[in-house]
Amino acid sequence: MDYFKINGPMTLRGEVAVSGAKNAALPLIAMTLLAKNPVEISNLPEVVDIRTLLKLLHSLGATFTLEGNRAVIDTCCLTDTKATYDIVKTMRASILVLGPLLTRFGHCEVSLPGGCAIGQRPIDLHLKALEQMGADITIQAGYVRAQAPEGLKGAHIIFDKITVTGTANIVMAAALAKGKTTITNAAREPEVAQLCEVLRESGVSVEGIGTSELVIYGTDRRLIEIAPFSVIPDRIEAGTYLCAAAIARGSVTLTQVRPEHLEAVLGKLEEMGVPLQVEKDRIAVHPAAVLKPVDITTQEYPAFPTDMQAQFLALCTQAEGTSTIEERLFENRFMHVSELQRLGADITLKGNVATVKGPSKLYGADVMATDLRASSALVLAAIVAEGETDVHRIYHLDRGYEKLEEKFGKIGAKIERLSE
Ligand code: UD1
Repeated sequence: MDYFKINGPMTLRGEVAVSGAKNAALPLIAMTLLAKNPVEISNLPEVVDIRTLLKLLHSLGATFTLEGNRAVIDTCCLTDTKATYDIVKTMRASILVLGPLLTRFGHCEVSLPGGCAIGQRPIDLHLKALEQMGADITIQAGYVRAQAPEGLKGAHIIFDKITVTGTANIVMAAALAKGKTTITNAAREPEVAQLCEVLRESGVSVEGIGTSELVIYGTDRRLIEIAPFSVIPDRIEAGTYLCAAAIARGSVTLTQVRPEHLEAVLGKLEEMGVPLQVEKDRIAVHPAAVLKPVDITTQEYPAFPTDMQAQFLALCTQAEGTSTIEERLFENRFMHVSELQRLGADITLKGNVATVKGPSKLYGADVMATDLRASSALVLAAIVAEGETDVHRIYHLDRGYEKLEEKFGKIGAKIERLSE
């Protein structure tokens, strides 16, 4: 297993180009199941989750070529509609094939994704919505078995809770359904908006893109022609490098970024006193004279993202005063707290609220990555910690950060990948 050795403290200086968004790329790859033509996707991040989903499509009979950040995926001749446990268990987002497979073939089986480190993460809302669209769903032997022999029918879906992959699944299901589907309380995340935009450009009528009410007119199982497109920049990767620059009091410029997707994050950095220069597709961060404490509550987009909670927790350990971070989306998403404490952070956890007293002097130690974003928080803390930090189990990071040690290397942080 690989681990990172990081010898801090370090200064950061230079430019980082932001990669394509993993969470946009995953539904867009699943969407190729709706296409009648081979689909060309560029700006894909080179991360494990993308390869996992391509492997899943391949196991269903799809063919693809992947060269660097560009893939061409052909799902014309699928031979199977069963997404098996061995792949689904490694990535929850595999559930994204459920809507497209069912709407295209009228039947499919997808393994239940099972538990995950940051909480229970059920898929009940996906299933309820598909049932409303006419699917007959049973759960048997760990599999979701879905049938709709006559195809899915448009319906009015009201999500009880905002769900990102749930919205993406139903948008894709609705694209080939018969008639009109309205989704109320839809996720407004830019990743969902891009999925809707690509479908619209492919001839599916989608209204309300970027709002909480989406209206989709389905093609009644007619496959669609999807033109080449490029994945939007990763706002979470961008936010992570912004926090890295802020914690190290460095001068770093992000390029290929969409600042309009980062408003809540940029707002909190400004509140903390971090000087930012924001341009159309670049953000420059400069050292803060004093890093101020902040209060954060994670919520759905456009509010502060749960995927940036861990990185801000690391940053708050260096702020002058007491910060609070409330996690509203996932009940168990604070496993990085005990690891940050090992480095010397002063954090108290009560329910879903973490109180951070800063600034704390951090010292290098052995720490363990517990999930994707928690892992990046440990890297940020290690950059300012004095001495050597070994971050173990970095396979979590490899799921979602493209060339992390290379990118940090370019801005002056030496992160060594070693094997244990
Ligand atoms: C997506 C993102 C993930 C991010 C999360 C929240 C991808 C691949 N992953 O995950 O990085 O942290 O959004 O922004 O895009 N819920 C239910 N029933 C359901 C579905 C969800 O109760 O059927 C609950 C979840 O337990 C959670 C909340 O709804 O409390 C939001 O989850 P959801 O938006 O579905 O997260 P994901 O789409 O899995």
